[in-house]
Amino acid sequence: MRILLCGCQGRMGHAVEAAAKGDAVIAAGVDAVSGERAFPVYAKPADCREAVDVIIDFSHPNALADELAYAVENSLPAVICTTGLSAEQIATLQDAAKHIPVFFSGNMSLGIGLLCALTKKAAAVLGEDFDIEILEMHHNQKLDAPSGTALMLANAAKEGVDYEPEYVYARHDRRQKRDKKEIGISAIRGGNIIGEHQVIFAGADEVINLTHRAQSRSLFATGALRAAKFLIGKDAGLYNMEDLMDF
Ligand SMILES: NC(=O)c1ccc[n+]([C@@H]2O[C@H](COP(=O)([O-])OP(=O)(O)OC[C@H]3O[C@@H](n4cnc5c(N)ncnc54)[C@H](O)[C@@H]3O)[C@@H](O)[C@H]2O)c1
Repeated sequence: MRILLCGCQGRMGHAVEAAAKGDAVIAAGVDAVSGERAFPVYAKPADCREAVDVIIDFSHPNALADELAYAVENSLPAVICTTGLSAEQIATLQDAAKHIPVFFSGNMSLGIGLLCALTKKAAAVLGEDFDIEILEMHHNQKLDAPSGTALMLANAAKEGVDYEPEYVYARHDRRQKRDKKEIGISAIRGGNIIGEHQVIFAGADEVINLTHRAQSRSLFATGALRAAKFLIGKDAGLYNMEDLMDF
């Protein structure tokens, strides 16, 4: 599997290179920052001269349009892991998925895929009597908040409940009691925290807390490589962790 690695100079770019072994090889990289690596690094995908089978992206939302245009033009599957995409950028991604297979997940960890499934189940079982709050923690270099994963978890809870929840991101500007149909989403940034997500179901007599703690970036890299392998040869369409885990 020959990979074009977008965002190759970043933290996750290095983690993907370290995790790639066996039949996975980084054929070329793309990054706004140049610099010597074991593979050629280009400023934009269209400059790439190496033959590749798949794109893996851990870069920046601004890089997405060029990457997807290149993927469509060259009929390449694309694994998009960058978070913090705007509605317009998600629409671009959905358009590309009409022509090529696109894998998109705000969190490439299998454990988080499982946490989403558990969250949906817990929300369905516990119902309206339990308040749902999501708390996420990340390192102090993260650009977007709340994390893409916190939103995935909120969406999983939304699928479980039988009411239309309102996502509430901050309470400092509110002077009112919590509504039963809220899902609270809070973010903390500090130090070197790789990523922690908690889904809290708070009832009158008991509290249930589902927690996932990422202990290394390599789990996201391994997940992205698995997704890349899964995507090669698939029909055009938008795929996610549920398709990969098949639950
Ligand atoms: N889906 C997941 O599981 C997952 C896990 C970790 C990180 N992420 C996301 O992946 C992205 C990268 O994370 P990171 O921690 O490696 O960040 P980082 O800042 O360390 O690396 C980002 C890289 O992208 C490059 N870049 C920025 N703008 C660019 C552009 N327009 N064109 C080409 N390259 C550009 C930067 O130079 C940098 O090398 C973030 O959006 C992060 O939230 C997703």
